[in-house]
Amino acid sequence: MKKAAAEEAVNRFVRDGMALGLGTGSTAYYAIRKIGEMVSAGCDFICVATSVQSENLARSLGIKTAELDEVGSLDVTIDGADEIDPDLQLIKGLGGALLREKIVAAATVKEVIVADGGKTVEKLGTKVPLPVEVLKFGHEHTARALRRFGCEPVLRMSGSDPFVTDGGNLIYDCRFGGIDRPFYLEMALDSVPGVVENGLFLNTACEAVVCDSGGTVKFMSEGVRGKREQDEIRMI
Ligand code: A5P
Repeated sequence: MKKAAAEEAVNRFVRDGMALGLGTGSTAYYAIRKIGEMVSAGCDFICVATSVQSENLARSLGIKTAELDEVGSLDVTIDGADEIDPDLQLIKGLGGALLREKIVAAATVKEVIVADGGKTVEKLGTKVPLPVEVLKFGHEHTARALRRFGCEPVLRMSGSDPFVTDGGNLIYDCRFGGIDRPFYLEMALDSVPGVVENGLFLNTACEAVVCDSGGTVKFMSEGVRGKREQDEIRMI
């Protein structure tokens, strides 16, 4: 499912000569592999990776990589997601790369999400916790502040040590049991001292390519943007 969605997205949205963002995770992996095949066949891209892991994979496949500030905007980024709602709003970051993923997405003209059918939800926050990246300094205080939003923040571990992101920060996975007002929650989280970034990717994706267990590939696009903007404005 992941491979089918990723390869379909590359075939549909990636063209020779583009500046590309490379996502992180087990689905984005297949997109990077496919881009590597295009490079072997003679295509030329300049790519910005959203994690050290994806950068290493890209280089091993002969894909040219650059720092984000070395390129202008990116034409297309292909990245995974942990939850996708019917309005193309997302939770990302279970792979730990949310900070760079959000910065790269903001520099991208067309953010394309690739996923298996298990990632679709009616309401964000129902299947997975929301990852929140925080500074190490005072992180337990930051976690107490997060708890006030009605979640139970759990420090992400890697074996017996806290998981550390590419940016040198920690992640609290915050289970909300359904997020009713994601735009409000995003602003509230960003107002907490010590929070670096959160895994809500709102009005970010332009397209999603989702493959279900029967092998059917479904396309979702931002045709609902008007409604999303209205929701956002109502909230503000
Ligand atoms: C990485 O931080 C995440 O945002 C991933 O894009 C997300 O977790 C999806 O990963 P998989 O494709 O491995 O499910």
